[in-house]
Amino acid sequence: MIDILEKTRLQFADLGVSTDQDVERLFNQLIALAETEQKKVLSEPEREEYRVRWLGRNDSVRARVKRNWLETAPKEMRRWVGTYFNTFSEQVETGFAYIKLAAEILEADTPIDLSLPGVTRPIGSHHLIRQVLQEIEDIFFSIGFSVVEGPEIETPYYNFEALNIPEFHPVRDDMDTFYLDLPKGAPTPLLLRTHTSPMQIRTMEKQKPPVRVIVPGKVYRRDNPDATHSFIFHQVEGLAVDSDITFCDFTGTIEYFVKQFFGPGVKTRFRPSYFPFTEPSVEFDVSCIFCGGSGTSAGGGTCSKCKGAGWIELFGAGMVDPAVYGFVNYDAKKVSGFAFGMGIDRLAMLKYQIDDIQVFFQNDVRFLRQFP
Ligand code: PHE
Repeated sequence: MIDILEKTRLQFADLGVSTDQDVERLFNQLIALAETEQKKVLSEPEREEYRVRWLGRNDSVRARVKRNWLETAPKEMRRWVGTYFNTFSEQVETGFAYIKLAAEILEADTPIDLSLPGVTRPIGSHHLIRQVLQEIEDIFFSIGFSVVEGPEIETPYYNFEALNIPEFHPVRDDMDTFYLDLPKGAPTPLLLRTHTSPMQIRTMEKQKPPVRVIVPGKVYRRDNPDATHSFIFHQVEGLAVDSDITFCDFTGTIEYFVKQFFGPGVKTRFRPSYFPFTEPSVEFDVSCIFCGGSGTSAGGGTCSKCKGAGWIELFGAGMVDPAVYGFVNYDAKKVSGFAFGMGIDRLAMLKYQIDDIQVFFQNDVRFLRQFP
């Protein structure tokens, strides 16, 4: 009997092969032989010899099978001979790849140190705005407030009307609002909220007094970007409504917050202001964090941060205007409360002495890494 390797030198006609089964048997014998030989391969020269013998270009087993079996097979057999040929070829190649791999592992004489640390991906950290927000939240948690959040896309009703800002009220001009392009016939215009105050309304619609919430979130205005303006920034709204809340509770709460946030040394003051949804309304200032309230810089000149005033404007606030209660079915005769809206970015800039709001949105790691 001629052995299988000899058979690869002959053509099907000489071998008397004519059926599918005959072809299958031939290829199976070849694959079996290739596998037996693979197992014996150890050294580098043996590996090379195996490669030349089975996969080489000219007189390897594969080259002969291709030439003598595949290319001379009668037309009607050609397709499945091709399939067997491909299977055989892949098996030998995969087998050879394994031999190589095994050799590489054996040859690598550095012992594997399982105690070495793996590849560590650096873990990110919270953005400074998020960190400051958490500081603010913790302070308000400590005096009984909870956090709610609301939509960034609002209706004019919540952003304006229910806050006592009717359609042609001049303060709408200050808001430089972004309206959304909506298809004709949309039931209501939509806009990017210009402040977090709409959540005063949404919260009071949902729950009866007492209410003590803060609302952090992004707000949008058509401001041109500069060191203190950005078309997107962050606010924390505060709202407390109950049957017996007085202006004293209001000032006490704000002062408590400011001292917790900036330290006990800062002084606070109120100035009269105007918001349609608070009455009375105030603008809240802190003594300048940079010059200690003196208005003079360390070098003797005018403090550039407060421009010599000794005070820095912090945020707007006030006692909730009774008209607002009308929109949420609260009885203005029975309840009272206060609200405030502060810019997180502004608080962060003051506390961490950052002089450009844009850095919060540029995601420059050199900035972010300073606040791990
Ligand atoms: N919403 C106001 C603003 O963005 C701030 C504010 C909130 C004032 C709550 C009073 C009460 O300017």
